[in-house]
Amino acid sequence: MKKFVIAIDGPAGSGKSRIGDMLAQRLGYVHISTGIFYRAIGWKADQHQIPLHDIPALQALIVHTAITFQHRDNGNTAVFLDGKDVSDNLATNEAGILASKVSAIPEVRQGLFALQRRAGQDGGVILDGRDIGTVVFPDAEAKFYLDASPEERARRRFLQLQEQGLAADFDRLLMDIKQRDYDDTHRQTAPLRQAEDAMYIDSTSLSPEDVVSVMEEHIRKIL
Ligand code: C5P
Repeated sequence: MKKFVIAIDGPAGSGKSRIGDMLAQRLGYVHISTGIFYRAIGWKADQHQIPLHDIPALQALIVHTAITFQHRDNGNTAVFLDGKDVSDNLATNEAGILASKVSAIPEVRQGLFALQRRAGQDGGVILDGRDIGTVVFPDAEAKFYLDASPEERARRRFLQLQEQGLAADFDRLLMDIKQRDYDDTHRQTAPLRQAEDAMYIDSTSLSPEDVVSVMEEHIRKIL
């Protein structure tokens, strides 16, 4: 059976990560959340106190950064930055905000483009992000645009952070989500938008299982 590239795009907190993991398990695919690349660079730049206007330093940082994944049997994926497991550091709301900031820089997007292409080149991969179906893999065999109301997305993030034992404030999360929506859809380079050939799914009142079933049905028709 041919191994496809499946693209899932959508705003922050729309469930792309969880849905991607579940769908990967059902199809026997590997799932990569491309936001991790942006989180890793945003977080590392912050740790090294590199100002975001210092483009050459950011480009050098990308070249000298190794981002690797370890896919676990339970469907989760651990992220290693230069050999160190940073999964928890990158899962925080702060890392998401840093990611959103660096992701608006065209040179950073360019630097991470090649890494994302490489991650999907052999197929059998589900990539989620903001511009997978539009820019990174415009030729992906299956594309989805996953959406949900800002309130529902903030609620999910709140529960997710609580489950991980991390601090969470609902109003702050909602505010951050709205800000990230604005930033992600209004940036000059590769703004968040639905690819013309993507299937739109509003998951506000759907369970993750329902969303995965809709996707699986769509994919099996193409396979
Ligand atoms: O999906 P996640 O919340 O991990 O993404 C963090 C940030 O990284 C997003 O708000 C977005 O600004 C950026 N991003 C992006 N393009 C991608 C994936 C993430 O710009 N393909």
